[in-house]
Amino acid sequence: MPSPDELRAFADAALTRLDGAENSATLDAIEVETLGARSPVTEARRSLKDADADTRRTLGRVVNEVTARLTAKVEQRRLLLEEAERDALLAGERLDMTLPGRSPGRGAVHLVRQIWDEVVDIFVGLGYTVASGPEIDTDYHNFKALNYPDAHPARLETDTLYIRHGDDPEGVLLRTQTSTMQVRWMEEHEPPVYIVSPGRVYRRETTDATHTPVFHQMEGLAVDTSITFADLKGTLQHMADQFFGPGRRLQFVPNFFPFTEPSAEMHVSCFACDGSGCRVCGQTGWIELLGCGMVDPNVLENVGYDPAGVSGFAFGMGLDRMAMIRYEVPELRHFFTSDLRVLEQFR
Ligand code: DAH
Repeated sequence: MPSPDELRAFADAALTRLDGAENSATLDAIEVETLGARSPVTEARRSLKDADADTRRTLGRVVNEVTARLTAKVEQRRLLLEEAERDALLAGERLDMTLPGRSPGRGAVHLVRQIWDEVVDIFVGLGYTVASGPEIDTDYHNFKALNYPDAHPARLETDTLYIRHGDDPEGVLLRTQTSTMQVRWMEEHEPPVYIVSPGRVYRRETTDATHTPVFHQMEGLAVDTSITFADLKGTLQHMADQFFGPGRRLQFVPNFFPFTEPSAEMHVSCFACDGSGCRVCGQTGWIELLGCGMVDPNVLENVGYDPAGVSGFAFGMGLDRMAMIRYEVPELRHFFTSDLRVLEQFR
């Protein structure tokens, strides 16, 4: 049986150890050692029932006093440690609400489609209707009705991608130009005609910086009772001013297309240098933009119009080319390889 002094000494040592416990697990262990069933304190309490009355009183008081001090210390220490441990846990599991979220990739309209929409809008603003038609078409719509002679080199298999080779009516092909839509529209509608027709066209090309087997064109056609070349010029001047900025000068250079007479290639003064010569226009001051002309009377006849009663103009431009010119994109291929590092520069 421990003496009161031994018990006090034990309690003092235990108090020091309890104070030094670094976490609640250590605290639990020390608690078992100091107040548990096999601790000197419990042993002393157990021995009291066999002790004489004097000892029971003096030792009993010390047992109670020591138990009270140790229990109080354990509780105080446990509160402190548990609070610290809870704080540490909370700090570790803290959600940082200020971190930016992961945003989904932002899509964008393809650059060629942006140009497509923009040019279409210009003509819709002038009252034109948008016409669309098949990319697989007949030799008739692509060539014959457009006044191409049977032996025209464009009709050779080396230049055109055929589904079925042959002259009208056998020939079926991937259209090489949106001019097919001139014929298709006029076959189905009476004049007046004011249409634009953007779309994909196909040619048998070897891919390089400025050629791909598929590209985009936009056709324009106006047929009415007294359409002249002046109407063509005024319309294209408006388009050039809208697309490249006001004050563009136009040049009409004589050219040949089977379905227009006279035909011209239209050049527009460079929007980047205003004609003095720069990288964009290849130092010439002019940018070749499109082909155009007055609709050939043969074409009007082919679709059942009366060339004596109506006249018209037509034009056709490359939409990819317009995008390349405006944004100085050096490679036509960029529009078809869908490399997002290129495309996302044009949101
Ligand atoms: N279809 C021609 C081409 O692909 C472009 C063209 C030229 C269209 C003159 C026209 C035009 O409507 O009048 O090269």
